[in-house]
Amino acid sequence: MTSYLESSGGTWQIMHVQLSEEQLLLQETVRRFAAEVVAPRAREIDETGEFPREFFDQAGELGLAGVAIPQEYGGSGMDAISYCIVVEEISRVCASSGVILSVNNSLVCDPLLRFGSEEQKQRFLRPLAAGEKLGCFALTEPDAGSDAAALRATARRDGDDYVLNGSKVFITNGSHAELALVFASVDLEAKHKGITAFIVATDSPGFETGPHEYKLGVNASGTTELVFDELRVPVGQRIGEEGDGFKIAMATLDGGRVGISAQAVGIAQGAFEEALKYSRERRQFGRPICDFQAIQFYLADMSTEIDAGRLLTWKAAWTKETGKRYSLEAAQAKLFTAGMAQRVTNKALQIHGGYGYTREYNVERYFRDARITEIYEGTSEIQKLVIARAILDQ
Ligand code: CAA
Repeated sequence: MTSYLESSGGTWQIMHVQLSEEQLLLQETVRRFAAEVVAPRAREIDETGEFPREFFDQAGELGLAGVAIPQEYGGSGMDAISYCIVVEEISRVCASSGVILSVNNSLVCDPLLRFGSEEQKQRFLRPLAAGEKLGCFALTEPDAGSDAAALRATARRDGDDYVLNGSKVFITNGSHAELALVFASVDLEAKHKGITAFIVATDSPGFETGPHEYKLGVNASGTTELVFDELRVPVGQRIGEEGDGFKIAMATLDGGRVGISAQAVGIAQGAFEEALKYSRERRQFGRPICDFQAIQFYLADMSTEIDAGRLLTWKAAWTKETGKRYSLEAAQAKLFTAGMAQRVTNKALQIHGGYGYTREYNVERYFRDARITEIYEGTSEIQKLVIARAILDQ
């Protein structure tokens, strides 16, 4: 099957699921880069928590920091499915590296492209999309995770500046980013209608980062706390109008969720390949364990679920390309792929038996890394809420 029919507002459109020559070439190039540059360091950076800055720099040189950003703004000018291919291929060998790239592409470059002024695009988007600077997305706070509208960071207007105060937690890339997309409220009483977005240089006075967070998985993704103490941000660095920030954050997270879906597919694919190889090599009862139907059924379920997850991810990416709102498709893709990644990595570990539980094999890392996909960029419970609201609104 080379195409998929989608009913949209009564008309039928064709979504091609056969990759173009350009996308196949991209896949081949990124797969080679992942194997030669990313994979050799994946286990080490997971253990030490070292942020792989040189990986991001090299990815930038290959055009992977702003995959779907037009070339005039420093990006590669490709489409959202190409972006998914990149995140999947990198996450297939290293989930930390996958999320570093995903955050820069979809949580920082994409909103600057969609909501930034021409001057902001030239000044901030261009170096981010070219991989010369790294970005982070600062929304979550200690008391505002799933309930993002409850954030308490404030932005007080003072002449030609805003003065920001507050703190953010669990910020991917936070330890090494040069630019942060920060959400703060100009009027806490107005709830989500007071939230405003700013692009901030992280070396500004009053911008502090916390210590490295050691986590269960994706341990090298530079997750940290950010603290703003009388941080002055020029008015020209406000993205959109005062009060637009919440919608900018939500629209941005639709794209981010497609990136995390691609990450989940990549983690699952990597674990599946390790399990398939192991099942051919490992002998018990006088034959390779892949001869046993129990193992064959695991492999069959895993490959089927991965394909289903990839198709949902590409469908969400494709819907994004049509220009219509794709919150439903993005949430469905993330909900399914995050759950699928738990099931697939769990089975991959089971196929490895006792060895899978040790650090001798990569499969325990995939198992740990998969877990975060059910939490960040909206928990699975929040995805269900978004899906249910979209269904009931139709
Ligand atoms: N696009 C555009 N506008 C949107 C939107 C979207 N996807 N979603 C909501 N809006 C608009 C609504 O239309 C509404 O507009 P009006 O004011 O005009 O009516 C407004 O935003 C408020 O929407 P809701 O009433 O739906 O808001 P809510 O408070 O009920 O919240 C929510 C909805 C879905 C629960 C949302 O808070 C949410 O997604 N929470 C999860 C937050 C999250 O994903 N955090 C991840 C942090 S980032 C991260 O993990 C990054 C990392 O480092 C890896």
